Amino acid sequence: MTIYSTRHPSTFTLGDRTVRRVGYGAMQLAGPGVFGPPRDRHSAIAVLREAVSLGINHIDTSDFYGPHITNQIIREALHPYPDDLVIVTKVGARRPADGSWVPAMSREELTRAVHDNLENLGLDVLDVVNLRVMGDAHGPSEGSIAGTLATLADLKAQGLIRHIGVSNVTPRQFAEAQSISEIVCVQNMYNLSQRDDDSFLDALAQQGVAYVPYFPLGGFSPLQSDALSSVAQMLGATPMQVALAWLLQRSPNLLLIPGTSSPEHLRENVTAADLTLPEEALAQLGGIGNSRAEA
Ligand SMILES: NC(=O)c1ccc[n+]([C@@H]2O[C@H](COP(=O)([O-])OP(=O)(O)OC[C@H]3O[C@@H](n4cnc5c(N)ncnc54)[C@H](OP(=O)(O)O)[C@@H]3O)[C@@H](O)[C@H]2O)c1
Repeated sequence: MTIYSTRHPSTFTLGDRTVRRVGYGAMQLAGPGVFGPPRDRHSAIAVLREAVSLGINHIDTSDFYGPHITNQIIREALHPYPDDLVIVTKVGARRPADGSWVPAMSREELTRAVHDNLENLGLDVLDVVNLRVMGDAHGPSEGSIAGTLATLADLKAQGLIRHIGVSNVTPRQFAEAQSISEIVCVQNMYNLSQRDDDSFLDALAQQGVAYVPYFPLGGFSPLQSDALSSVAQMLGATPMQVALAWLLQRSPNLLLIPGTSSPEHLRENVTAADLTLPEEALAQLGGIGNSRAEA
């Protein structure tokens, strides 16, 4: 049975920093299909500045978004960065000219990706780098990640990375990664309707490791459900605010990185942190998901 908290803390530890639990995911700023150029670069810059002015101090990105473009926009919008801002990036893929997503996990490719992130973000050291494992088309799949993780650990030892995270991994791959380096976060797909990681995220909570769900609002096809709409109406909130509040109450180690190109949606998402879902709402929403742990 899933245990929810009625009071949700507003911050959690990510590496050696404390961040607000509602952050921002910059992926879709790159443009349609996450392949540049963006439709409106000026509004992308404005959204990032608004995010920071609203108190967001955790931004998720990658140099393969665009490619390069999302990081360049972040730099243009926010550099020199506020002291409390934690920028989390990821490596492990590349985008050829046809816009496809191709694994890029060799030592040379990972090293180049770290240097590209440093250059395009205008940083000397990256706060957190996630190794984004290219599993099968449907998500994580088993297989050793020791070699690729060892490369990141070397780059960390060289002082180019402060902390390492992993993305699109199984619990076994996470444990393998932990045997090579401290792992401060896991970024897997999870939201109200995609709950395969229920038991994994509970185990990470016990270890104090941040779980950062990607597609917290459903990604390219935002969540839609009668239960979500009805709870939102009952609480005088929007469905997306309810979806984010549910995640905040789901476990204190969940850090949110909803993406938006709209200042209005951004404000809505930030204020979701003020919403507390009563038990009746949690019960209604609990029926939406496909929890592997509870199947
Ligand atoms: N590790 C990985 O493999 C991986 C994969 C995918 C994504 N990510 C990370 O996860 C972050 C979040 O993913 P995402 O941005 O693709 O998906 P998401 O946050 O689940 O959803 C974004 C979509 O929801 C819409 N939206 C946002 N706020 C809304 C609101 N208040 N009301 C209505 N619609 C709203 C956005 O449209 P509008 O622009 O119109 O608001 C956009 O279409 C990404 O930015 C990226 O950093 C990581």
